[in-house]
Amino acid sequence: MTGEIDVRAPGRVNLIGDHTDYNDGFVLPLAIDRECCVRGHATAGELRLRWRDGGDANSERIAHAVRDVLGVDAGLDAEVASTVPIGSGLSSSSALAVALACAFCNAARLELPPRELARACQRAETDATGVPGGIMDQLTSVSGRAGCALLIDCRSLDVRPVPLPESIGVVVVDSGSPRTLAGSAYTERRAACEAVAARLGLRALRDATLEQVADEPRARHVVTENERVLAAAGALASGDLVELGRLMLESHASLRNDYAVSTPELDALVDALVAAGALGARLTGAGFGGCVVAVAHAEEAESVARAVSGFVVRAVDGAIAE
Ligand code: GLA
Repeated sequence: MTGEIDVRAPGRVNLIGDHTDYNDGFVLPLAIDRECCVRGHATAGELRLRWRDGGDANSERIAHAVRDVLGVDAGLDAEVASTVPIGSGLSSSSALAVALACAFCNAARLELPPRELARACQRAETDATGVPGGIMDQLTSVSGRAGCALLIDCRSLDVRPVPLPESIGVVVVDSGSPRTLAGSAYTERRAACEAVAARLGLRALRDATLEQVADEPRARHVVTENERVLAAAGALASGDLVELGRLMLESHASLRNDYAVSTPELDALVDALVAAGALGARLTGAGFGGCVVAVAHAEEAESVARAVSGFVVRAVDGAIAE
């Protein structure tokens, strides 16, 4: 096998809907113009990866896990280069897993439907890292749509592109704080949600009412966050950026107070973004460090980004254009 391989997969930023995906809930992310590229050729089985931006033991583990989960024999002789900031909550590892999965599929002449590809990458990442992540990051990297956010139903895996109005600017800023606790705390939060669902006799917290979880802060975050995601998709569709911003600030408060995954650095960045003119801002991804996302009027986005050493992102197509 000497097939040429040249594939890419983007990172993502989540506008709203965190810690909802593994509760069968809703999320509203976009694939961003920071991506992981795998270039080289297929081999009969050998795996030779050259990491241009410092792959680590984790990256190697993900590569092997992806191949194992896909069950392909083909190997790769390839260079891996990523512009997704590593470990900052923009799904650098999912971009890597999806790009590698596409490369292995090309090498093995295997065609997988987008959701199956995303599911395989989710399994591989969980195997490689031990953290039982949800499906949002991989599905966004696979199914992103240029100029759109994606309203994803994490139960049915239905993906609905919601066009971003021209009037919106999306700003991302990295808090730079290490996410050392993220893995264990994530696993603990997920287990807590599943325990509440089980106690209520529900398949997942997606099915809980606010009344049922009124005295359970973690579950309450999940139930209220799902409502905010649906409202935010509506606000985006009707171009109501003020409402979208308000919902994002509410989401941050809920992640901080009820879900307890924020940090003083993230809280300070949210405040700084609002002071700089953002309409709303929130931590994005798992929390415990990582990035903050904000929305602003398009013409103010660059100045908002500059005020906090952030950057403006564009919504791009995912790895598999449908
Ligand atoms: C991480 C996980 C996702 C999701 C977010 C929180 O990024 O990989 O599946 O659970 O945290 O929303």
